[in-house]
Amino acid sequence: MNANHEVKSLTAIGGQWGDEGKGKVVDLLSSGFEVVVRYNGGHNAGHTVCFADRRFALHLVPSGIIHENVSCYLGAGMVIDPSALCAELDTLTAEEVRHEGRLFLSDRATLILPTHQAIDNAREGARGKGKIGTTGRGIGPAYQDAAQRRALRTFMLTQPARFLDAARDLMTEHNRELDVLFGAPPVNLDEALETLRTGAERLGPLVREIGPKIIEHADQGQQVLFEGAQGVLLDIHHGTYPYVTSSSCLPGAAAVSCAISPRYLGPVLGIMKAYVTRVGEGPFPSELEDEVGERLRERGNEFGTTTGRPRRCGWFDAVAARYAVRAAGVDAVALMKVDVMDDLAEVEVVVGYELPDGRVLDTMPADLEVLAQVRPRTEKLPGWQCSTRDLKEATAMPARAEAYLRFLERQVGVPIVLVSTGPRREETIARGDSDLSKQLAGLIETNQSLE
Ligand code: GDP
Ligand code: IMO
Ligand code: MG
Repeated sequence: MNANHEVKSLTAIGGQWGDEGKGKVVDLLSSGFEVVVRYNGGHNAGHTVCFADRRFALHLVPSGIIHENVSCYLGAGMVIDPSALCAELDTLTAEEVRHEGRLFLSDRATLILPTHQAIDNAREGARGKGKIGTTGRGIGPAYQDAAQRRALRTFMLTQPARFLDAARDLMTEHNRELDVLFGAPPVNLDEALETLRTGAERLGPLVREIGPKIIEHADQGQQVLFEGAQGVLLDIHHGTYPYVTSSSCLPGAAAVSCAISPRYLGPVLGIMKAYVTRVGEGPFPSELEDEVGERLRERGNEFGTTTGRPRRCGWFDAVAARYAVRAAGVDAVALMKVDVMDDLAEVEVVVGYELPDGRVLDTMPADLEVLAQVRPRTEKLPGWQCSTRDLKEATAMPARAEAYLRFLERQVGVPIVLVSTGPRREETIARGDSDLSKQLAGLIETNQSLE
């Protein structure tokens, strides 16, 4: 085993409620890695990559795919809809991104069937006002089947006849459930099976036992980047349950998903926006339901990459960020979308949650009824009111923006090593003088010559 593998890997995760800019960061860093692994979630994720005049929205495929020397893996902890993955591969091919020979699926991931999507939507409809606001992609029902031990897994894509028999049986059961539980119409099985057959033919050859392959890369001294989907506050155990997704978004889940030792994961980079957004329902203590929130949404183009839904916007929540840093063992933060706040005269940060009896909470409570009672305590800072868009050096940061970054670092307790000031690869600055900052600075430099 390579004694240095700890420093050769990095795990990049969302530190808020998703959409922090993980796609941008993973793409940006990928030039320095031989391997990129997605380890959780499914096509509920939408990871955007922009450089020069090109834009990609990735859902299942790791954001490292754009770099032609990078091998990409999808872990066993994922839920994979074969037709969604085929559509994504078609889009990449049309954009002249070739994946052949360097994209592999774990043989143990859970398959999303068309009936899972129907159940997701029927259940959300039946919940009415109490809905979660899911992406409607069948994510929850597929993970539910995995936990029920009746799911179909990716290895079956290599045995189409057996797969289609098993899929017919399971979808027949799903159709019964759609009728009995929700009075919803059945999914047409012949059409669904035809889609699955095409998916199996195409994806079967990509299926592997991925753990030994990832260990082999790492032991050869190759660098592995683990890419989380969603974010800590959407984690099935540690997020704002039940308004969460159905997978674990924490870095430890990467080791579980790939069946490798957690020692391979390296430092944890927590990706956070300079403010906060959330899509779907659920608590959001720093939410701004006023013109400032509207301005952030417009300037930040805060509309879902997957569903197009408007994202709710609010101030940076340092209580939630400290909680996420603790829960996920975040070593350093990449702070995204600083440019979106450029024109604000004043910015605020939530620094405490005040309970009705005057006590101040410094954590996200497990009980959402408690969270609903908290009044966020904020601190105000002056806005910088000038453009951060074309900055190339951390030292060129406007003084008030720098003061905001330092305030967040003190609040969150870990350094900000990357600052993002625009959607494109080129609009990123490495910050600080830690080893990680220096490593990231080197990668950014390489990337700027990669258009
Ligand atoms: P992900 O799910 O974490 O990968 O994030 P998304 O791609 O869903 O959403 C982030 C959005 O912000 C995308 O449209 C990105 O192109 C955009 N973006 C990322 N970083 C920045 C930034 O620093 N400034 C601005 N203005 N946009 C950014
Ligand atoms: P990325 O990886 C933001 C949210 C949904 C909903 C909840 C449950 O792009 O950051 P699900 O369909 O997973 O059962 O929905 O989780 N959600 C996300 N929000 N970004 C995501 O992914 C999300 N994936 C799921 O909006 O509130
Ligand atoms: Mg997204």
